[in-house]
Amino acid sequence: MASITVNGTCSLPLSSSVVCHAEHIDLDEEVHEDIVDLKEEEQEDIISKLVVMLLSISWTPAAALRTIVELNIPKILATHASAPTHSMTAEELLERAPGASKPNARNLERMMRLLTCKNIFTEEVENITEGGLLKVIRRYALTPLSRVLVPDHATGTMANFVKFTTMSPVFCKAMEHLSESILSGGSAFESAFGTNAFDYMTTHPDQLHCFQAAMTDHTNQMLPIFLAKYQGFKGVKKLMDVGGGDGTTLSRILARHPHIQGVNFDLPEVVARAPCHPGVEHMVGDMFQSIPFGCDAIFMKVITTHALDSVPLTLPLY
Ligand SMILES: C[S@@+](CC[C@H](N)C(=O)[O-])C[C@H]1O[C@@H](n2cnc3c(N)ncnc32)[C@H](O)[C@@H]1O
Repeated sequence: MASITVNGTCSLPLSSSVVCHAEHIDLDEEVHEDIVDLKEEEQEDIISKLVVMLLSISWTPAAALRTIVELNIPKILATHASAPTHSMTAEELLERAPGASKPNARNLERMMRLLTCKNIFTEEVENITEGGLLKVIRRYALTPLSRVLVPDHATGTMANFVKFTTMSPVFCKAMEHLSESILSGGSAFESAFGTNAFDYMTTHPDQLHCFQAAMTDHTNQMLPIFLAKYQGFKGVKKLMDVGGGDGTTLSRILARHPHIQGVNFDLPEVVARAPCHPGVEHMVGDMFQSIPFGCDAIFMKVITTHALDSVPLTLPLY
């Protein structure tokens, strides 16, 4: 019998199968006090239901995160929240949010409070009396987690990654077809849109743009960590990034290893939109058909996970 720690102070017995799903659940101390005298099986039953309930609604913080990025809240706080508190109320934030025709500060405040629970913002509460009535003023400020959602954050933003991955309408529509993909085969995305995700993006430039911006966020985040440790590029003269997107990854590698000649290999529509990077040659192709021979090494980042079903075990080099 394993256990789950409640608020870091006391342990509840749980079967290991429940624990592995409950790792991230931070149960309230009061919940623990309410159930501590129950039998072990009863505690396990209650906690299991709580965990399932929390998992069922675990999409809500992601949806709130997407919303505050869409509304530009981190940027507004970074730009307009001034000293000494560096905080703003929901009303003040909404005054600066784009496209508000009938602003509802209360709805924004609810979202800010939810995200405060996830350490995305801090909240300061002030009670004042106005016309004999008590009024609660809530003010929000950035934390390290929301600072990385500011579009021009010094070390690169994660805002595009959030927009692409969290509850986007395209993702949600594909999710509706998950059961179908199990019962009738094929991919959920293809059931929903009649084509695979990459072909779909070639005819939906807004989605392609959104996807590439998300991948650039990913590259900006991962590459410095990877490049600081990885020594394998030292002997490489010509390096091909297969499925390299717009070439950002290669350009980062070359910035650290300027002796390398880079070849960025991707689908025609992606290469057509890719900017020029010094030392990087763009090449059009389909990795499942053939990959040109002639480089010392090939590099792939975030490829096999999205294409596990279709990537051949041996890539066709020619
Ligand atoms: C998840 S993205 C990764 C992009 C880039 N490696 C990165 O980490 O930022 C997958 C990339 O594979 C490319 N891709 C998908 N199918 C491909 C194919 N058949 N041949 C070549 N590239 C392909 C996509 O256009 C996209 O740029």
